[in-house]
Amino acid sequence: MPKPVVSVLNGIAATAAAALFMVGCTNPTSPPTQTNADTATPAATAASSSAAATPPLSLPVSLNAVMVGAIDHASDPLFGVGNAMYGSGKIPRSDADWAEVQFHAYQMVILGKVIQLPGTGPKDAEWAANPQYRAFADSLSAVGMDMLALTEKKDAKGFQAAGNKLIDICESCHQAFKPEIPTMKLYHRALHKQGR
Ligand code: HEC
Repeated sequence: MPKPVVSVLNGIAATAAAALFMVGCTNPTSPPTQTNADTATPAATAASSSAAATPPLSLPVSLNAVMVGAIDHASDPLFGVGNAMYGSGKIPRSDADWAEVQFHAYQMVILGKVIQLPGTGPKDAEWAANPQYRAFADSLSAVGMDMLALTEKKDAKGFQAAGNKLIDICESCHQAFKPEIPTMKLYHRALHKQGR
């Protein structure tokens, strides 16, 4: 028996109505409550899934390498300003000299935070998780900030006290944490020792 024409038309009408409804849902002119409900869920899901997918940040080299390759180098010119007051080291004179000192102060500020991330050394994760180690590292950043302020005032004399504070922090942390033999066998002035 052939389908009654009227029921076929009803079917088409129902499909068209459903399509219109769906358009209504995504239409930007639809009521704000509906628009919010439509967009809030995917946004929240994306935020939480990207947080879950991000692995914890770590360094591609050891903390021993950061000490030798970055901290030690950044600190030398900073100590130099204070030491110049005692007769050794270099007093910054030109704007360019002061800019150099300022870059090293920035490095100290930043590195104090960097060394709170574990790298590839065998003891790195243990150190980076230790609250006392982290406190020493934070004070490295804090002295860096003090030195930054001194460079803005071009206060070379202020570097005497700040330099003493800095060396105290290096030594206190080393006393508490640095092993007798560096874990990756990287020493201060390794290149000079090898005669290069
Ligand atoms: C938060 C703690 C901490 C602070 C602050 C710190 N260090 Fe270190 N440092 C270490 C640790 C731990 C090691 C040993 C790393 C290893 O062997 O894996 C080390 C190793 C070193 C080494 C390589 C070993 C050696 O004897 O030659 C040098 C150089 C060094 N530090 C310089 C400095 C200087 C300069 C400062 C201050 C400007 C400083 N460090 C501040 C923790 C610290």
